[in-house]
Amino acid sequence: MNQELMTLDFWQDTVIYEGKAFPIGTLACDALNVPADTIAKMNEHCEKINLLLGLLNAGQDIVIVDNLYNSSPKVIDRIERITGKRPVFVEADCCDRAAMDRLFSDYDITGVIHFAGLKAVGESVEKPLLYYRNNLDSTLTVLEVMREHNCHQFVFSSSATVYGDQPAPLYETAQTGGCSNPYGWTKFMIEEILKGACRADLALSVVLLRYFNPIGAHESGLIGENPNGIPNNLMPYITQVAIGRRERLTVFGDDYDTPDGTGVRDYIHVVDLAEGHLCAIRYAQAHTGCEVFNLGTGRGVSVLEMVHTFSEVNNVPVPYVIGPRRAGDLATVYADPAKAKQILGWEAKKTLADMCRDSWRWQTRNPSGY
Ligand code: UD1
Repeated sequence: MNQELMTLDFWQDTVIYEGKAFPIGTLACDALNVPADTIAKMNEHCEKINLLLGLLNAGQDIVIVDNLYNSSPKVIDRIERITGKRPVFVEADCCDRAAMDRLFSDYDITGVIHFAGLKAVGESVEKPLLYYRNNLDSTLTVLEVMREHNCHQFVFSSSATVYGDQPAPLYETAQTGGCSNPYGWTKFMIEEILKGACRADLALSVVLLRYFNPIGAHESGLIGENPNGIPNNLMPYITQVAIGRRERLTVFGDDYDTPDGTGVRDYIHVVDLAEGHLCAIRYAQAHTGCEVFNLGTGRGVSVLEMVHTFSEVNNVPVPYVIGPRRAGDLATVYADPAKAKQILGWEAKKTLADMCRDSWRWQTRNPSGY
């Protein structure tokens, strides 16, 4: 049977996968005697790329769709080096309806993993219309085209940001909304759109994955995060300080109500995150309706714990100073990951040391990015 995998690039990053019997993680796909197509989109964040690696290792053909807004086509070569297979790559924007229609006509897509979205919080405050247009339009366009082509499975990369300011641990049943920036609101709005789409179309299957803080890189050191300009997020900032591209890290506040006063987050290795998507795809193949899962470890790690672990594991200094709080930051955010374990059979396996080691390997082997 024809097996096609499409990868859409969002953030542009979206993955549309297709198939009926996906394996989990890197397990051989013995049961996969049915067609499987996937569309994935890549971006500066490597969790999507690691998902593609998982899919390829699992015996899937994939089609990657990416507008290359903030990603590099070199990633395709690296995926091939790691997996021995070259995924199909289509340069296109998920907001381009004609391009999406061609995509679904050219490939027999059975499912979509949609990562395609802009994600810089500060930029979203400065350019809200860009964020609402891109993130919502791309989702709506792909959903409409999916419906026209009888494709019913959709996995969406949402974020813990939809919980707003609520006490940890965060359960999937917690109220959503109350976001502090347009980026967060786009995630909330897309979740609502998808819930409504499922209520109206009983054939549709949607899985909302609420990511906590993805860090790390593929263990090969070939694929990792390559942010444009000054990193907004903690781990890429740490690696750039450690390698000497930046003088020192500023710790945003040490007067929070946390054990050491610095912000606490639930960091998750991108490869664990990718495996969560494989489980979500398999779940979507077997169910209709809309289901939501946290993808986190359930463990809170402070900024200083991260800095010290990174230094010890990699034997490299990370100079830092304590600065003021960053506007909009919360003290403590971590998941209750029990639902994903119970229903998807997924749980994060990699340690904080793994995350620090893999991020550093990526940075040292690619000091200037791709
Ligand atoms: C942020 C976004 C979240 C988004 C995620 C993407 C907010 C409130 N949340 O999460 O919506 O999904 O990025 O990855 O903006 N820190 C420093 N110094 C730095 C950078 C970060 O001390 O130079 C601290 C922060 O204050 C925070 C922790 O490190 O306590 C993690 O920050 P970051 O990596 O930016 O992630 P979040 O703010 O949790």
